[in-house]
Amino acid sequence: MLLNQLAGRRALFVGGKGGVGKTSVASALALAAARGGERVLVVSTDPAHNLGHLWERPVGERPTPLWRGAGRVDGIEIDPAATVDRHLAAVARTMTGLLPERLHGAARAHLAAAREAPGTHESAVLEAVADALAMGLAEYDRVVFDTAPSGHTLHLLASPERMTTWAENLLANRDRSERFSAAYGALGGTRDTSDRDAELRRVLRRRRERFAAMRDALADPRVAGFVLVFVPEPLPVAESREVAEELARIGVPLVAAVANRLSPAALPARRAREEALLEGLDLGAPVTRVPLVDDLVGLPALDAIGPHLGGPDPQSGPSTASS
Ligand SMILES: Nc1ncnc2c1ncn2[C@@H]1O[C@H](COP(=O)(O)OP(=O)(O)OP(=O)(O)O)[C@@H](O)[C@H]1O
Ligand SMILES: [Mg+2]
Repeated sequence: MLLNQLAGRRALFVGGKGGVGKTSVASALALAAARGGERVLVVSTDPAHNLGHLWERPVGERPTPLWRGAGRVDGIEIDPAATVDRHLAAVARTMTGLLPERLHGAARAHLAAAREAPGTHESAVLEAVADALAMGLAEYDRVVFDTAPSGHTLHLLASPERMTTWAENLLANRDRSERFSAAYGALGGTRDTSDRDAELRRVLRRRRERFAAMRDALADPRVAGFVLVFVPEPLPVAESREVAEELARIGVPLVAAVANRLSPAALPARRAREEALLEGLDLGAPVTRVPLVDDLVGLPALDAIGPHLGGPDPQSGPSTASS
């Protein structure tokens, strides 16, 4: 069963194309693991969040309690816009501290431009993911990421060379601002190891280390795993093959696949077509089948899916209701 296959993998990335059931499966997995006694953090990295809708309570950027029982589920929705604001404010503080006053105006103009620059939003999400992962691994038994549909986040996660940090971009990108790069040259080019120089290098090193830690966790099959969700229809099945190949190429271990929203037995012809599709499918990981359930909102619906993912029967056991 799925949860058994995932045993010991403390960082799970649930991904797949848009609308296939990533948020539902990530949440049901989290609840099933928590019913088994685990402390689980579920993190939505999708700007179009619906973790809160599914669990029927507002979820914020700090861990929000979603369920308490044998174990617990907390949730986080990463807010890219807020992350961008926070990050730019932090960079601004660092820069004002580092740069001579006459260059503050240029630095501010540079930051204002950076807010709109391509990749800014993505870097913000990535950084928030790295933070959530570090916090989750330190304080929970497991972290389950509900990723954005494109899979682009994951691509970035697995490409260290693309993980240039904002600080590095802001300080080193000569194309974006001639004036600022002149300032950077003056700053970095000083021969004596000034305090400013040392501080700058310390900031950059800390960011690089955080991304490196994330990359290491991701590439370690003992720690991380990707769970691919798809629906049993011809096009999504073909797409799931492509995602599996892509994951193999970038070195992220695919540990399980979930065929979601399988038709009920009352529709035998349809169900047979779906099974035929699944039989011909080799993703390099076992496929777990999850049936279509009624109205997938709230705890009962998540509990209806849990046992299909290898979770305990919610009716048995000492667990208490949602807090
Ligand atoms: N097993 C299921 N049975 C019934 N409905 C389901 C099932 N799984 C998902 N759904 C429904 O399908 C829709 C999409 O599910 P969900 O939001 O989990 O997908 P997603 O992959 O996270 O979507 P997005 O790409 O938009 O984030 C929702 O309305 C959800 O309630
Ligand atoms: Mg979703």
